[in-house]
Amino acid sequence: KAWLNVQLIEDKERREAYASLLGQVSVECKPTLVLQTALKELQQGIQALLGIAASVKEGSASRAEEENAGGLRIRLCPEANTQGERSQREDGFELQYMQAANGNEAIYLIGGSDKGIMYGVFHLLRMVASGKRAAELNTKESPANELRMINQWDNADGTIERGYAGRSIFYGNGRIASDLGRIRDYARLLASIGLNAISINNVNVHELETRFITEEQLPEVARLADLFRAYGIALFLSVNFAAPLQLGERNTADPLDAGVQSWWKDTAARIYSHIPDFGGFVVKADSEHRPGPFTYGRDHADGANMLAEALADYSGLVIWRCFVYDCMQDWRDRKTDRARAAYDHFKPLDGRFRSNVLLQIKNGPMDFQVREPVSPLIGALKETNQMVEFQITQEYTGQQRHLCYLVPQWKQVLDFDSYAQGEGSQVKRIADGSLYGTAHSGIAAVSNIGDEESWTGHILAQANFYGYGRLVWNPELTAEQIALEWAAATFGYNPTVTTVIIGMLMKSWAIYEAYTAPLGVGWMVAPNHHYGPDVDGYEYSRWGTYHFADRDGIGVDRTQASGTGYTSQYSEPNASLYENAATCPDELLLFFHHVPYTHILQSGKTVIQHIYDTHFGGADEAERLREQWAELEGQIDEASFVHVAERLAEQAEHAKHWRDVINTYFFRKSGIPDADGRVIY
Ligand code: GCU
Repeated sequence: KAWLNVQLIEDKERREAYASLLGQVSVECKPTLVLQTALKELQQGIQALLGIAASVKEGSASRAEEENAGGLRIRLCPEANTQGERSQREDGFELQYMQAANGNEAIYLIGGSDKGIMYGVFHLLRMVASGKRAAELNTKESPANELRMINQWDNADGTIERGYAGRSIFYGNGRIASDLGRIRDYARLLASIGLNAISINNVNVHELETRFITEEQLPEVARLADLFRAYGIALFLSVNFAAPLQLGERNTADPLDAGVQSWWKDTAARIYSHIPDFGGFVVKADSEHRPGPFTYGRDHADGANMLAEALADYSGLVIWRCFVYDCMQDWRDRKTDRARAAYDHFKPLDGRFRSNVLLQIKNGPMDFQVREPVSPLIGALKETNQMVEFQITQEYTGQQRHLCYLVPQWKQVLDFDSYAQGEGSQVKRIADGSLYGTAHSGIAAVSNIGDEESWTGHILAQANFYGYGRLVWNPELTAEQIALEWAAATFGYNPTVTTVIIGMLMKSWAIYEAYTAPLGVGWMVAPNHHYGPDVDGYEYSRWGTYHFADRDGIGVDRTQASGTGYTSQYSEPNASLYENAATCPDELLLFFHHVPYTHILQSGKTVIQHIYDTHFGGADEAERLREQWAELEGQIDEASFVHVAERLAEQAEHAKHWRDVINTYFFRKSGIPDADGRVIY
């Protein structure tokens, strides 16, 4: 149940006060599927929190009743739908506390739509559980972002690409799961934090998943769509660009071929006959050996538009990923730069995409490293719908064996000012569509869940899942607020416990960064599985992920003056800020510059001393995390306590390993000893 593990309120007085208010629910709107879900959630929640069965009455109250009636009154705000406002408003809700002349208390839950009511129910239950009094419930909320999406990287064989919490809850043995119970629980979790779209299969679409769009598989996919629909979540599929070819129904996948175009149109018609509200396609094309339009001398606009044309009649969307780069590089070639690739590929196509295409751009130009600059493509597209892509699954941030709370990182990205339209062009304004007034926009993230009991492997990694949803709903929430909400909902409203957990979460990203790759350089991980240190693991490979460390210095020269020219992809003043080593923020220095080990950082330290200090310090801090958690023994349930304690012990040991591998490597390369004379092996 994760954060939906609602407990009976212990304070009897508060429980009774709420019981008289929430014990009677009157619903004054049409009972749709999503509204039924909302009412079921409400009744379950009231039962769990207050120990009572709420009575639900349908139909509008008469005027006389109205004036004095108490209880929870649910209704739709009729204007929200008719004024043609963006769907964000429809997904919104309002809670109003009122006291009638006769003393009766009432709460009005007014939704912009049935989905708005459902989000309002989850919000109401969260507030009641957190100890808020009825009079403090007044609020008006609507999500900042239109598409609030989760991407599963699950494969039909039951494995999960970059999954660290067991196997897929969606598939096993090449088939969609027959028991949908766990998937339904997942839908609840997603809806409870306001998410409204899901792609259910890996962006790398293999043979079995290529068949998801065939007549044979669609009834199965439709079962999942039915389930998600009840929670207001639209279902998307990742598709194989070469599907017509691979399924043996065409001899090409050329997007400009009439036969291919009609194949996709027929496919769209088939999908919509099974799933009338199907969300659309997610596409990874011409990326890491996946097929795409390049094979036929066509570009990404040709490819995306062809699919978009097929979906247009049904209001379906094509979410086309911008993770496109040359993965067959030569380390001797200092000009080709993977960081440049997304911008170089997509910026020239700006304005050519159909209105039902969105480009999905990873938050950084490389690949979800612990520290990267914000992708310069975000904001650079002025006439194209775009979405930001985050990674909740901790591929490069400790794989859910290390603690790494990512909400602060995502917030930094969303708050980053791209200056694309002058000051005030923050990424969050591009994601929410307001900067350019785009037709569609939003945020997607790669899921971190699997079939393990805890959902996320590390229980504390649930905070990333929860935090993602809350942040995408409202990017103005602070990382601490979100951590507090999550910790309290999960472990109970005990200030000692929540204070310790918030403290641990809030420091964890900095700690992880400290003992892993320094100063934004990234990639010092073991190839393939990406867990643990291997400084040269990718240094001579074809993936284009280099640090260029030699005996004299380290870092990638991405300047216009002497490097790859990547800095020019940013708007001013960011371009100059990064171009100049003296102004480039320390934490990104080696991403943008190749410098000697003796280069003095803005912090006043040399690069080499920074490497030593952060690695010794980071490993010590990891040890401290373990000690902090130990203080909670007896204050949270035993199983959770032990589970997290084990992970933190592993992290502390592994952090020492990281420390020693990195320090030894750079000591030997540079020949410069640690100023503090600490042990370097
Ligand atoms: C990373 C990741 C892959 C994934 C890819 C993508 O490279 O390691 O597993 O397929 O990103 O986002 O497409």
